[in-house]
Amino acid sequence: MRIKTFEEYQTAYQQSVDDPEGFWAEIGQQFKWRKPWKKVLSWDFNEANVKWYEGGEMNITENALDRHLEERGDQVALIWEPNDPDDEAVSITYRVLHDRVCRFANVLKKHGVKKGDRVCIYLPMVPELTVAVLACARIGAVHSVVFGGFSAKSIADRINDSACTMVITSDGAFRGNKVIPMKETVDTALDQCSTVKSVIVMTRTRTPVSMLKGRDLWWEEEVKHVDSICPAEPMDAEDTLFILYTSGSTGKPKGVVHTCGGYMIFATYTFANVFQYEPGEIHFCTADIGWITGHSYIVYGPLCYGATSVVFEGVPTYPDAGRLWQIVAKHKVNILYTAPTAIRSLMSFGLHFVKDHDLSSLTKLGSVGEPINEEAWQWFKQNIGGSHCPLVDTWWQTETGGIMISPLAGITPEKPTYATLPLPGIQPVLVDENGKEIEGNGVSGNLCIKFPWPGIIRTTYGDHERCKQTYFSTYPGMYFTGDGCLRDEDGYYRITGRVDDVLNVSGHRIGTAEVENAINMHLGVVESAVVGYPHDIKGQGIYAYIITESKPDDAEMFRKDILATVSRIIGPIAKPDKIQFVSGLPKTRSGKIMRRILRKISEGEMNNLGDTSTLLDPAVVEEIKKGAL
Ligand code: WT7
Repeated sequence: MRIKTFEEYQTAYQQSVDDPEGFWAEIGQQFKWRKPWKKVLSWDFNEANVKWYEGGEMNITENALDRHLEERGDQVALIWEPNDPDDEAVSITYRVLHDRVCRFANVLKKHGVKKGDRVCIYLPMVPELTVAVLACARIGAVHSVVFGGFSAKSIADRINDSACTMVITSDGAFRGNKVIPMKETVDTALDQCSTVKSVIVMTRTRTPVSMLKGRDLWWEEEVKHVDSICPAEPMDAEDTLFILYTSGSTGKPKGVVHTCGGYMIFATYTFANVFQYEPGEIHFCTADIGWITGHSYIVYGPLCYGATSVVFEGVPTYPDAGRLWQIVAKHKVNILYTAPTAIRSLMSFGLHFVKDHDLSSLTKLGSVGEPINEEAWQWFKQNIGGSHCPLVDTWWQTETGGIMISPLAGITPEKPTYATLPLPGIQPVLVDENGKEIEGNGVSGNLCIKFPWPGIIRTTYGDHERCKQTYFSTYPGMYFTGDGCLRDEDGYYRITGRVDDVLNVSGHRIGTAEVENAINMHLGVVESAVVGYPHDIKGQGIYAYIITESKPDDAEMFRKDILATVSRIIGPIAKPDKIQFVSGLPKTRSGKIMRRILRKISEGEMNNLGDTSTLLDPAVVEEIKKGAL
């Protein structure tokens, strides 16, 4: 499964294009199957239908756990580093993890969860989160992990969209110096959800919580009374493994559906190859399991490959900005995979937070989530990687299931700010506005993928038409990523950012329409328009232009109230950084907001607004320019 040299990469890549089925069949054989597949691939991008390893039967937990027991049952699978550095870290071996997953799977079964049922997981970064995820997979239940930073309403929307029958949560969460009420938020969400029959509550902060008789159960109590043997449910390769909600340019977040076989193989193959994982290495991905990065590169990829994976509960700046480096030194981390926003933020605190820690264990670095600027790339490479660690800039998406374009650590020649070359099996193309493929090098365009790979999104939960519309209709016959991209003279890819109305704030994907809808729910707001602007740390900041019914008496207070509304409707991550009250918005005669103009103003490019003659009311632009923040 592992490529070892650049020549091998080139050969593998060519083979994957010439004979994709042969290529992925060979990799597929290295996993544990209950029943072999009948057909490696069938696909039709026009209908958004893709199937991998059809007819094959397996269970991802047998690959992530059982398979390792004989050879490395006593090897550590997870190292849990708690929020407070003075609390003890916990190491969990493959054998113990297997045992805990089986027990908890039996708890799920005991409370009526069956194959295909949807289970919402709203937990902090504790070992129980991984246990809960794998326990669902064990019995064929579909997990839908909701990031701990989302509001009650966001949880409710996600629960209702996929009709979850159970929620797994904790009393509270420790994040830096804060204690966050998790169960209370779930309780508020559940006032709007009728499908949930039971809630399992894990004890973390021992914050007082209300426990409803007949619905709520304590995790610790439940696991006492179950067997530790739980046979894995045989799953069809194309049965759903999980749903993960993500934002698009329109409407509500959509439930991206991934299936068992293809996802497993893609997450594992990319993990092994991109990070060039060597047996015994400690892999630390700083993402939250609430995002796809955590699903693929904390849980499934590393565990299926038999690796040791670090789960960190806290935040990079608590108790101080040296926390990540302290964890690297403490656990002798070899592979550190983090986000540009974290790098830029830690950079700004200065090097004295780095120098106290021994980073000599590091062998490889990775970046994910947003374009990495050259300064951050160099800082990470030199000061954290001591200039000798390969640094992989990995481009991918929730919808792709795993890494798509990235160097293979130490194998692909690097170029700062470039995700470099596609992994074997990935066929990127750049297209112009008319959907024509732009060939050759030294070109840029919209990034599409023209052939399926095993980790590709299968549908958007409950609405296949939306999946077709969003990803397969802009450029018929291709999967459209929503990203702009440059291919330089060497054929190297550099992702330049979203070309749709999706923002990337601190690596979090947020739809402008979602934020606008939240703002518009606020009393006294008539209309709003949201755009992204360059932000030194966050990558992008959120700039909201808001029309109010009347001039607010206390603009500052009104601004804060709007932030409270956005926090309540979506979550704190979607709070605008800047709010400008305006009397009108630049609209075309047909009533469409010209975001291009607002974007330019928010970037401070006042003299470069382009053609404004088609505007309904050009005067409003002058007003907005004058009041720009
Ligand atoms: C969007 C996907 C999948 C990882 C976490 C984010 C942006 C992701 C990179 C990168 C430039 C990147 C893209 C993409 N993005 N990685 N290495 N360089 N941009 O997953 O929330 O689904 O967001 O993140 O714009 O479309 P996501």
